[in-house]
Amino acid sequence: MYKAIIFDVYGTIFDMSSLEKRLNQFDETQASSISQLWRKTQLQHMFLKQIMQRYITFDILTKDALRFTLDKHKIQYNREDINQLFDAFLDLDYFKEIPRVFSDLKAKNLEIGVLSNGNDSMLMPLVDNSKISDDIDTVMSVDEIKQYKPSPASYALILDYYHVNRSEVLYVSSNSWDVTGAANFGFDTVWVNRRKMQFDNNGQAPTMTVSNLNELVKWVEMNK
Ligand code: LAC
Repeated sequence: MYKAIIFDVYGTIFDMSSLEKRLNQFDETQASSISQLWRKTQLQHMFLKQIMQRYITFDILTKDALRFTLDKHKIQYNREDINQLFDAFLDLDYFKEIPRVFSDLKAKNLEIGVLSNGNDSMLMPLVDNSKISDDIDTVMSVDEIKQYKPSPASYALILDYYHVNRSEVLYVSSNSWDVTGAANFGFDTVWVNRRKMQFDNNGQAPTMTVSNLNELVKWVEMNK
C-alpha cells in the first residue's frame, strides 16, 4: 500500500547528540545545557515564524537561536564561533541502523525521501557528505514554499514530488510535533521513540511507535 517512505532529518536520520560533541570543545561544562536550549529555541523560533508568516531560512534561524542561547549562558562569542558551532549541523552522525534500513526498504521497491525544515545550504552538505546519500531518492526542503512543518502545505510537497495519494505515504519522524503535523495532513505516521519518551498527544496519535528504525522495516513488511 505504501509507495514512499518519507523521513524527517534532524533527530530522525541524524543524531542531534553530535551537536553536544562539538559544543564540548567550546564549553565543556555547559555543553549539554547549551545544546538543549539551542535546539529548543530553534524549534520555538520556527513555530513563531510560521504562525507569524515571517519565514526566514533555517540556517539564519538556527544561528539566531544559537546567539540567544549563548547570551543566556553568559558566553562571549564572535562571528567565527557562531559559524563554527553552526557547522556542526552540517556534519551530524547518522544513526547506525540507517544504511541497512534504507537498503532493506529499497529492496521492497519503496521510494525513500526526506522532508526537512532545513534549507538546501544546510541539507545538501549534510546529506551529500554522508555515506547514505545514494539511498535517498529525494531531498525535499520546505524552503521551496517558505512554510515550515507542521503546516499542511509543507507535507503537501511530498504529494507534488511523488504524484501519490496521502494513503500511499508513510511519514517517519522522531519529533512528536512533526508526527502530529503529518498525521493531521492525513499520512500514516511512525514515531521513532529512541529515548522512551511520552508522546505529546495533541489530538493526533502516531499509527505506529518504534524504538529504532529496524523495527520500522519489520512493521512495513507486515503492513505493506
Ligand atoms: C527537520 C527538523 C526541524 O525538519 O527536525 O528536519
